[in-house]
Amino acid sequence: MDDRVVTSGGSGSGRPARQINVVLRTSEPYALTGSSPPQLESELPPAARPLTPGDPFLDIQRELDPMVGLENVKLLVYEIYALLQISRMRSDAGLSGGSHVYHMIFTGNPGTGKTTIARIVAKLFQKMGVLSKGHMIEVERADLVGEYIGHTAQKTRDLVRKALGGVLFVDEAYSLARGGEKDFGKEAIDTLVKAMEDYRNQFVLILAGYPLEIEQFLLTNPGLPSRFPIQIEFPDYSVDQLIQIAELMAKDRDYALMPQSLFKLRQHLMLEKTMSMFAFSNARYVRNVIEKAFRHQAVRLMNQYPSGSPGKQELMAVRPEDLKWEK
Ligand SMILES: Nc1ncnc2c1ncn2[C@@H]1O[C@H](COP(=O)(O)OP(=O)(O)OP(=O)(O)O)[C@@H](O)[C@H]1O
Ligand SMILES: [Mg+2]
Repeated sequence: MDDRVVTSGGSGSGRPARQINVVLRTSEPYALTGSSPPQLESELPPAARPLTPGDPFLDIQRELDPMVGLENVKLLVYEIYALLQISRMRSDAGLSGGSHVYHMIFTGNPGTGKTTIARIVAKLFQKMGVLSKGHMIEVERADLVGEYIGHTAQKTRDLVRKALGGVLFVDEAYSLARGGEKDFGKEAIDTLVKAMEDYRNQFVLILAGYPLEIEQFLLTNPGLPSRFPIQIEFPDYSVDQLIQIAELMAKDRDYALMPQSLFKLRQHLMLEKTMSMFAFSNARYVRNVIEKAFRHQAVRLMNQYPSGSPGKQELMAVRPEDLKWEK
């Protein structure tokens, strides 16, 4: 069967499903959409049309808005929502609603928000009636690949079944193609591809991984790229964005980073980002630093206040000495 899909809403031979072909890249946003030209971050709508109370997107927006940066991602999530709304209106007007394919590829370095966004996307699909449950099953190679012939297919099928009604998120997907033809990873890929046909419209598959490795992974099987019409790149965060993320994480938990602490953190992040260019884990790194700082702050306060409680300000303040990094 020919699995290649004609771009932009064309229905490929024998495949009634429509595909939206969107490749959002920071360097070339809107590579294939042919829609409006790239806009500056501050100009991005993402919801130009006001949302009425009770609109399913309100909840999604509430989760997306506080996320630092990720403008291309926010825009794409809005596009999916808009497409679903309009499809509904089209069906009501007697037009073809079309059945779209929503399998996606998320490329980006560690800690760039892929898992967080995948959960939000799962929720959007549930709210819009595309998926019945909207849960997410997050797996990696070890969960899918078995130890003997037939084991892998069974493990993979079991996980797909668990994901029905929701999203199956395969992290470090390229590792499935790592061992070549003889590796059981290939069996996992074949089983996933088959499940995409067997359970069409019953789950959304999101593959995630580093950009270069995902590219190589897609090259291993010519049928793969067209099955994932939505590709989103998650760029590394800038130091400014990482600082904003740190502040947000602290604020969410009723802590406050003192100005000197922010300064110290900024210096450290600048260094860390250049030193570990390929291994730097972005927001995840920041989260670890912040959580460690909370523990150090707790110990410091216990020592400073052997009896009685520190005041509210003291309980909130993360001081420079609370920020420590392993060397
Ligand atoms: N833009 C952002 N704004 C605020 N917090 C963020 C942002 N991106 C990521 N985070 C936070 O950073 C942490 C790591 O994010 P997440 O797990 O989604 O990244 P990931 O790309 O899946 O990482 P990995 O590749 O390591 O699995 C989470 O606590 C998440 O809430
Ligand atoms: Mg993740």
